[in-house]
Amino acid sequence: MRQGAYKFAIVVGASSGIGAELVRQLAESGCRVAAVARRGDRLQVLAKEYPNRVIPIVADVLKFDDTAEVFLRCTDALGGLDLVIYNSGIMPDVAPTEFNFSKDHAMIETNLSGAIAWLNVTAERFLSSRRGTIVVIGSVAGDRGRRGQPVYNASKAGLHAYAEALRNRLSRSGVRVTTIKPGPVATDLVAHLGFRGAMPARQAAEIILAKSGRGSEQYLKISHRVIFATIRLIPSWIFRWIPI
Ligand SMILES: NC(=O)c1ccc[n+]([C@@H]2O[C@H](COP(=O)([O-])OP(=O)(O)OC[C@H]3O[C@@H](n4cnc5c(N)ncnc54)[C@H](OP(=O)(O)O)[C@@H]3O)[C@@H](O)[C@H]2O)c1
Repeated sequence: MRQGAYKFAIVVGASSGIGAELVRQLAESGCRVAAVARRGDRLQVLAKEYPNRVIPIVADVLKFDDTAEVFLRCTDALGGLDLVIYNSGIMPDVAPTEFNFSKDHAMIETNLSGAIAWLNVTAERFLSSRRGTIVVIGSVAGDRGRRGQPVYNASKAGLHAYAEALRNRLSRSGVRVTTIKPGPVATDLVAHLGFRGAMPARQAAEIILAKSGRGSEQYLKISHRVIFATIRLIPSWIFRWIPI
């Protein structure tokens, strides 16, 4: 991302992993960032690293009725807005024979409903100013229905469809909507899966920001695009034997 590409940004899901790195890199580029998440102590650490650049906003994306008010708090504190990144996501450990509605519901609400709540208010704001960039953090996991994480996959597939629709709705208004589909990134979210060769969060954030204005679906690497395009072609009766 070039220096000064964005002046005012909101990162939702900013307290750890990819989100915290996005906040750091935006702040380093000269952008003022409203960093939104539940863990205020983590947000305070970021705010201390970048005084006057990072504004900590403690909020839970599951409190849907508060979204519009928290969004306004962010824009008032920033003094403007040109980028919103929806990054909040959860992926609880799900055993192969577990069908746990409470975990499933939490994933749908955090990964999908929270995104819809935040991006609907963002879309209205950007539509009236006829400019702005929205970035949605999806996942390669949303490309197929895997036996290991049925509802995480469904939440990301739903998020990709919602983001595509938003992109198509806003395309004639000068508003760009970019969907990022990361593969494995070394963060707390996937620590229990023991991925080897996962991308460092800092590198993932760099690529996300570099691709943020593309206004289309983006993988982090060309090799991911090729691998996951191939995976999409595997017939379901073979795909079901792949363990994750
Ligand atoms: N790591 C990977 O391999 C990978 C691959 C593909 C896609 N992704 C996606 O990348 C995004 C970031 O994940 P990560 O890997 O960086 O994991 P992470 O370190 O666990 O970050 C998740 C972020 O989501 C926030 N969040 C969760 N529930 C929230 C809630 N109710 N309200 C507000 N914020 C909430 C967390 O903040 P608080 O807990 O402080 O609220 C945290 O900042 C997720 O959408 C994930 O699905 C990750």
